[in-house]
Amino acid sequence: MTKTFQIKSFGCQMNVYDGERMAELLSAEGMTPAAAGAEADVVVLNTCHIREKAAEKAYSEVGRLTREDGSKPVIALAGCVAQAEGEEARRRSKAIDLVVGPQAYHRLPAMLREVESGARPVDTDLPSLDKFAALPRRRRAGVSAFLSVQEGCDKFCTYCVVPYTRGAEVSRPMADLLEEAAQLVEGGTRELTLLGQNVNAWEDGSADFASLIHRIADLEGLERIRYTTSHPINMGEALIEAHRDCAKLMPYLHLPVQAGSDRILKAMNRHHTAEDYLRVLDKVRAARPDIAISGDFIVGFPGETEEDFAATLGIVRQVGYASAFTFKYSARPGTPAATMDGQVPEAVKDERLQRLQALVAEQSRAFNASKVGETTRILIDRVGRKPGQMIGKSPWLQSVFVETEAGIGDMVEVRLTGALPNSLSGELVTKEQQQAA
Ligand code: SAH
Ligand code: SF4
Ligand code: F3S
Repeated sequence: MTKTFQIKSFGCQMNVYDGERMAELLSAEGMTPAAAGAEADVVVLNTCHIREKAAEKAYSEVGRLTREDGSKPVIALAGCVAQAEGEEARRRSKAIDLVVGPQAYHRLPAMLREVESGARPVDTDLPSLDKFAALPRRRRAGVSAFLSVQEGCDKFCTYCVVPYTRGAEVSRPMADLLEEAAQLVEGGTRELTLLGQNVNAWEDGSADFASLIHRIADLEGLERIRYTTSHPINMGEALIEAHRDCAKLMPYLHLPVQAGSDRILKAMNRHHTAEDYLRVLDKVRAARPDIAISGDFIVGFPGETEEDFAATLGIVRQVGYASAFTFKYSARPGTPAATMDGQVPEAVKDERLQRLQALVAEQSRAFNASKVGETTRILIDRVGRKPGQMIGKSPWLQSVFVETEAGIGDMVEVRLTGALPNSLSGELVTKEQQQAA
């Protein structure tokens, strides 16, 4: 009998990518994805450890998988909680059959066989890169696909678990990436998002991240390139110039700053000041004036005063974000910040988060509204809910609703006609209109 599987990914895009690769791996073993709503024989929980809530979710998912009669699927705990807790996870929940870290998941099929013969294996080795060589060829991955080019982090921000869950910074070789990118494009992918915890720190010998972008841009049939997440200290000149010179590189930059106060940035071990960050953005905007800027912010880091928080609001006002992710500081076991003095009360964090979110929401609305009246190309990636309606992405990563006969994967020219809180509406620009213009 063929076994069915389900993979549930939580957390960042790197986990989404890993989830796709695990699915390919299990399919190559003759297993099949469980039908929507059906119970799978094997469930892989691809977990996130970044904040306490995310980590707790892993265990509540394990609990939910145990049926009333006590039976349950084979449960594989994968991802960053698996890496952070290892043996401990297996002790915490008897229902977990195997524990596999993000650098060891190529061993998943072998570990499932060990489970069949009664073992409960744990593999949280961090050899990295090995796994890529052991994975099968890429299958069709959708018009917009992720490609992990770099993993791990050596920055050690004092609040963050990633250096411990993903290990040291490593870059995949250029040749492997060009091959995987070509396979994806051959399978119909039109847009590639290059992923890494510090994607712009990617390097291969003398080749830097900008040269990787240029090489990938040479792939015929690929329309668009994006990348995430970048660190401000790795925003080199060549990468900034790529935003001016590479037509396929989309005008969108996710560049987290976390906080606006230099005192807090220092305590976070960010290696940059607020001024450094603003200087980088000035250069990026000089290279690509229409670029959409996005960021991440943490409120309530230990020792954050009202004045520090005001500096965060200040930097947001100065930058003018197209979008931003905002988080309440969450103390993570084993990180330096967890034991710092001046932990901020939950109520204060809540209140600051609300103020920050209100400002960010106002900026996103203003950014979307500023595009109304412009004509641009969108990449159709979904079917809309209304008959004849399709949804595509603008260069600035906004969802655009449009009536068109074009299909998924097509690029169409639209005039943006209206701004909604989280998306835009557009009208197809016909050939005649294009000629008249
Ligand atoms: N490598 C990326 C992303 C790291 S995780 C980067 O450096 O930007 C994504 C975001 O989660 C971070 O940018 C940060 O804003 C947030 N984050 C990380 N650790 C956190 C913690 N302990 N509490 C709250 N937010 C956190
Ligand atoms: Fe975490 Fe900082 Fe590394 Fe980003 S740069 S993954 S926030 S330690
Ligand atoms: Fe979470 Fe791990 Fe990504 S902790 S944010 S899944 S790198």
